[in-house]
Amino acid sequence: MNNQPIIRFEQVTKKYDREATVLDQVSFEIERGKFYTLLGPSGCGKTTILRLIAGFVEPTEGNIYFNDKLMNHIPANERQVNTVFQDYALFPHLNVFENVAFGLRIKKLSKAAIREKVLEALRFVNLAGYENREIKEMSGGQRQRVAIARAIVNEPEVILLDEPLSALDLKLRTEMQYELRELQRRLGITFIFVTHDQEEALAMSDEIFVLDNGKIQQSGTPTDIYDEPINRFVADFIGESNIIKGTMVRDFVVHFADKEFECVDQGLNDNETIDVVIRPEDLEITSVEKGKLQVRVDSQLFRGVHYEICCYDQEGNEWLVHSTKKATVDSEIGLYFEPEAIHVMRLGETEEEFDRRLEAYDEVSHAD
Ligand SMILES: Nc1ncnc2c1ncn2[C@@H]1O[C@H](COP(=O)(O)OP(=O)(O)OP(=O)(O)O)[C@@H](O)[C@H]1O
Ligand SMILES: [Mg+2]
Repeated sequence: MNNQPIIRFEQVTKKYDREATVLDQVSFEIERGKFYTLLGPSGCGKTTILRLIAGFVEPTEGNIYFNDKLMNHIPANERQVNTVFQDYALFPHLNVFENVAFGLRIKKLSKAAIREKVLEALRFVNLAGYENREIKEMSGGQRQRVAIARAIVNEPEVILLDEPLSALDLKLRTEMQYELRELQRRLGITFIFVTHDQEEALAMSDEIFVLDNGKIQQSGTPTDIYDEPINRFVADFIGESNIIKGTMVRDFVVHFADKEFECVDQGLNDNETIDVVIRPEDLEITSVEKGKLQVRVDSQLFRGVHYEICCYDQEGNEWLVHSTKKATVDSEIGLYFEPEAIHVMRLGETEEEFDRRLEAYDEVSHAD
């Protein structure tokens, strides 16, 4: 098994015109056979990364490697990559079979080989028997599968999917999430999937890159990113969070909501201003006396599995709590949480900066 990254971005900067920097020295590695997701708000550069990988645009600065070979100026048709576009970009005048066969015909494969490969690809996406259907007679989910069949039939090393599920209704979308994930496992091809839907990213990915402001804010497994968000942006973008301004008193002690709390964080400056994150499900409702925080219940909503309870502390900070217990609106309650539930984040720090800080901190500790 070949363990070298299949794609590598080295300090890639992209400007479409002279002014705006869309990507700012972005570096990352894509390993073979994994499911990657690019996640971020509209306009953050997700599609631009896919275009750079596919070879539809070139980097302004920096290098892109495929299997350690420099690809900056290699044209799109010479890359082992196929793209599934957001609108699927199927050919409306061709039937299902011909849509999937298109790339193979360009490669001038024999009629028999084309037939065999197309039927196999259609079987793979559960569309056996649909060969002669017109595209306009296919549903949204079926069209999406035709688009995927058209990509996999070429046996690329990488498939790029640009928000392929965004046009589907919620139920079909959830079904297709399972199908896509399953398909990726069976094929063993590297998938790079784009979405701005955080739940979709968490559900599907081996690894997520969270993008904002032209930079990768954080990369990691869904649990890494959910449990240890690196900054306010990531914490806010991934799941619901309580994000409160605070101060790092010293290692393992943090101050917020007018109190000091034990935490597990270290390596920041004493008295540094920081952001604190506590997930709503990590807050437990207790009596006023047993709580580490005392709050007043402002409102609550039943969300099916849990209650979503909105509270305020004396300083006016809002605290969102997910609890299977019901609370009483306007009552005083306590909130309990473990030291591990507190995540301390340096203001606006990106993952790269975080890694450098930890390295520096380790060096200092080892020198003692
Ligand atoms: N061809 C272009 N010329 C000039 N600017 C462009 C071009 N394509 C994209 N941009 C700009 O680059 C930025 C990133 O665009 P991109 O399409 O990569 O965003 P995105 O993350 O895919 O957004 P969305 O979620 O809305 O699809 C945007 O500000 C966009 O306006
Ligand atoms: Mg886009």
